[in-house]
Amino acid sequence: MSRVKLRSDEWFARQDEVGVRHRSVLATLGFDPQFVAGRPLIGICNPASEFNNCEMGLNELVQMAKRGVSQAGGIPLEFPTMALGGEFIKPSDLPYRNLVSMDIEETVRANPIDGMVMLSGCDKTTPAQLMAAASCDIPAIQLAAGPKASCYWRGQEVSAATDMWKYWDDYRAGKLGVEDWQELERCLSCSYGTCNEMGTASTMAILSEALGMMPSGTSSIPANDSRRRVAAEAVGRRCVGMVEEKLRPSQIMTPEAFHNAIRVLNAIGGSTNAVIHLVAIAGRLGIRLPLSLFDEIAQSTPMIVNLKPSGRFMMEHFHRAGGLPAVMREIADLLHLDCLTVSGKTQRQHTQTARCYDRNVIKPLDQPIFPSGALVVLKGSLAPCGAILKASAASERLLNHTGPAIVFENYQEMLAKIDSPDLDVSPESILVMRNTGPRYVPGMPEWGAIPVPTKLLKQGIRDIVRISDSRMSGTSFGTVVLHVAPESAIGGPLAIVQTGDRIRLSVAERRLDLLISEQEMRDRLSRWSPPPNAHLRGYPRLYIEHVLQADEGCDLDFLRPTSKEAIRFVPPIVGRS
Ligand code: FES
Repeated sequence: MSRVKLRSDEWFARQDEVGVRHRSVLATLGFDPQFVAGRPLIGICNPASEFNNCEMGLNELVQMAKRGVSQAGGIPLEFPTMALGGEFIKPSDLPYRNLVSMDIEETVRANPIDGMVMLSGCDKTTPAQLMAAASCDIPAIQLAAGPKASCYWRGQEVSAATDMWKYWDDYRAGKLGVEDWQELERCLSCSYGTCNEMGTASTMAILSEALGMMPSGTSSIPANDSRRRVAAEAVGRRCVGMVEEKLRPSQIMTPEAFHNAIRVLNAIGGSTNAVIHLVAIAGRLGIRLPLSLFDEIAQSTPMIVNLKPSGRFMMEHFHRAGGLPAVMREIADLLHLDCLTVSGKTQRQHTQTARCYDRNVIKPLDQPIFPSGALVVLKGSLAPCGAILKASAASERLLNHTGPAIVFENYQEMLAKIDSPDLDVSPESILVMRNTGPRYVPGMPEWGAIPVPTKLLKQGIRDIVRISDSRMSGTSFGTVVLHVAPESAIGGPLAIVQTGDRIRLSVAERRLDLLISEQEMRDRLSRWSPPPNAHLRGYPRLYIEHVLQADEGCDLDFLRPTSKEAIRFVPPIVGRS
């Protein structure tokens, strides 16, 4: 029996006909109605689906999590959510992050759930669950599916995405033949699990651990490693303990915990997508994370993790080297170590015994891979509300660059023209693509890493400055300016750039400027009209009408509390019908 008053008591601890009905429902699952009341009911969120190979391993982990809940005296009940397969969902999985967060929030609101185990995996699942946990603020603990096994092709280790992009350029440049390409295809995904480099899924799992929402040391355990199964059982047990202790996400995800997460994001050379997700998660708790804070923290954080796409190694090497606890120990002086975690212990308690076992993968603080500023926030006349560049994955020679723009009206036009022999492109050019932001497509797909034109690839040029209001995969690389806000489809300056205009990118000054006069800028904007939008129904319409811009996390405006009072999660009235 629980020592605390449970939310589920409203359903089960009553002696009227309503209580009898509710308890008898659990009897159909084999729970003796006489022993139901007073036991914490733990909802286990399991998004596993054959539409998402990254998360298919969760079907196994969920059994262990249930066993753990039962061991601790709780009642485990599993519930599904939409699968957010980063590979299949087109054109973008980002809008559905918000939908899944709503799905979880409403499932919790309407049901007798006292605590929640959140099994995650792919890029958007982890932030969606954290957003929901923040909104519900009931005890919640997260465990990810884990990175898939490393794959090999012709004796070379191949990462699921970063290396694929590189080989794609080789194929387009004529260095790989059709048969090579087909052979490679069979080697890219050798097991269930998430992308096995420092892409968005790995980044978000690590940041969940840095926030304190995922058990210390678990974010990088490989998908098929028995330690992940043992961790699944442990999160089940621990969730029951969190209910007893009334340990809530709002006590864990504090402003200091978000500062830690931003620090870690830079230390690991994590995905640019994490900026959007952290802003959105914090926003659900009424915590503001302005882009200037990301830049400020980035400038004083060395990048010490040597993983693809910014570095050399894969997630399994990272785990073997000590994982996040080893990273946090290395940057301990830069962190708020008194932050609480799901274990009930502080980050200090978890990191003080951590050790690094491979200095090639996790570098000492005084020998970083990248001195500071792995992620850079840019502002200027082309991005009044900000833009992001992953400097650690960019070409140094292009970080301060001025060149003529080649403008693509949208993604389709870019695809049609990028490899045309008529494209008037040089290594100095700056490729600009618009109408790929949060509202227009919708959901700012990962189209920002515009392919380097074949014309340049054949000259041996592998990078060129690219600018758009879209995102890019956390596994991509290059001098790619992303998340330009406001987006072009609502009249941001990206909307009025013309081919031939000169653009100046200065990472040193954190500037992105369109080099035309202010008067010319005003004249062009006064003649601009928004492109028509095709989405007239369903969730895309709701999304377009309410989505916030990239610098505000692309959450829906009505899901972000506007006051402390609005943060309160209102449970249903459990009546007689
Ligand atoms: Fe699912 Fe990369 S596509 S983790």
